Amino acid sequence: MKVLILGAGGREHAMAWKLSKNAKIDEVVVMPGNSGMTMTPKVTRLEGSWKKKDEFLSLVKKENPSYVIIGPEAPLAEGVSDWLREAKIPVVGPSAKAAELESSKVFAKKFMSRNNIPTAEFKIVDSVKDGLNYLDSLNFENGIVVKADALAGGKGVVVTRDLLEAKKTVVDFLESSECQVNTTDLLFEKRLDGKELSAFALCDGDHYATLGYACDYKRVYENDLGPNTGGMGGYLPTDWPSPTIKKEIDNIISKTLKGMKNEGREFSGFLFVGLMIDGDDVNVIEYNVRMGDPETQILLPLLDERFDGALFDVANSRLTENSDLTPIDKSCVHIVLTSGGYPSTDGTPLELNNTIDYPSKYHDQDEDLFLFFAGVNSSSDSSLVNTGGRVLGLSAIAKTTEEARALAYKNIEAFNFKGMHYRKDIASI
Ligand code: AMP
Ligand code: GLY
Repeated sequence: MKVLILGAGGREHAMAWKLSKNAKIDEVVVMPGNSGMTMTPKVTRLEGSWKKKDEFLSLVKKENPSYVIIGPEAPLAEGVSDWLREAKIPVVGPSAKAAELESSKVFAKKFMSRNNIPTAEFKIVDSVKDGLNYLDSLNFENGIVVKADALAGGKGVVVTRDLLEAKKTVVDFLESSECQVNTTDLLFEKRLDGKELSAFALCDGDHYATLGYACDYKRVYENDLGPNTGGMGGYLPTDWPSPTIKKEIDNIISKTLKGMKNEGREFSGFLFVGLMIDGDDVNVIEYNVRMGDPETQILLPLLDERFDGALFDVANSRLTENSDLTPIDKSCVHIVLTSGGYPSTDGTPLELNNTIDYPSKYHDQDEDLFLFFAGVNSSSDSSLVNTGGRVLGLSAIAKTTEEARALAYKNIEAFNFKGMHYRKDIASI
């Protein structure tokens, strides 16, 4: 059996590694992948891109995989899974219509309110005048969340207690040509308090398999300071959420699948639900229609072969019941190493092309430490150099989060490249 994965990051390396361990799978091809992931046995790369439909489909047909997994959101929003389904190639990934749960925050909010899914109160406006009037009408003590209706890689959300900043964001998002984020619809949301948690499920339109929970760290510096990133690390909590909250989360996943099916947007693929939890109060902050990065690197090392089976069943639309594949008993902590200068919000170049020193023991992944590559390339002397923002990540597994954390940080000391940065407080705040 051959599986083709679209993507190039740590998430895709973790998926490829997981499937490579399955005796029934002979080859995992990643398009375009990265040079680091081919050190994993059975994993190869395929040059190519999904951007041109005909070229892409002819490449995939030539590979003839049993099924395709789409890693990132951009090809999902573009409808790459629709192309594959039309060509009768099994795929794990929602249709473009279903992917609007992530690509349009306005669609997602209206969907939640139509389907009785708990979420923060909201208001949608499409002009600066209406936006400013709305802000002036509020009692501003609790602050506000302003969101652009666009895929903006984390830059389209501003959470603020400052009325002037909220007003500036309205003008920036709706009208400023200098702002990196532009939108025609603007969403205001009540600011929620609590602790954030992400929940993951693999869905085939009717049924789902839950894959577990993760907490991530989005800011670049310790104590949640500095700009947002794609994710600096995270962990699987073992003592949280409570059974009551897990039940409520299952309920949210069920309602989401039912609602999407009723609205003619059957949801098949990975569902990633971003939640705010305050006591027993659970609210959805956002949906993503893919696995998280680095949440994949946190959860997959703890999942057994039922996960591989569920992937095959989802690709072939034949999950027969809801199941719970949530890992139990152990925690996993993941730390991301980034290039100097990441995330470069002001456009300053990153410190790239430096040789990465790391212990070769990771080429044979062992029981409790797992290395996943992202922004790397081979240099002429066949060592790896850093070529992107997030360079690699290390996952450590242990009985408790504290032990997993200690193991991860002890082993990260053996890694080095010029400009390397990582957060020292993953899983401890
Ligand atoms: P989103 O892209 O919608 O997930 O928002 C990015 C981040 O903004 C979330 O991970 C939260 O930390 C924060 N956020 C979004 N919506 C809210 C809200 N209603 N209340 C508080 N924080 C929020
Ligand atoms: N780590 C957050 C994400 O993948 O969106």
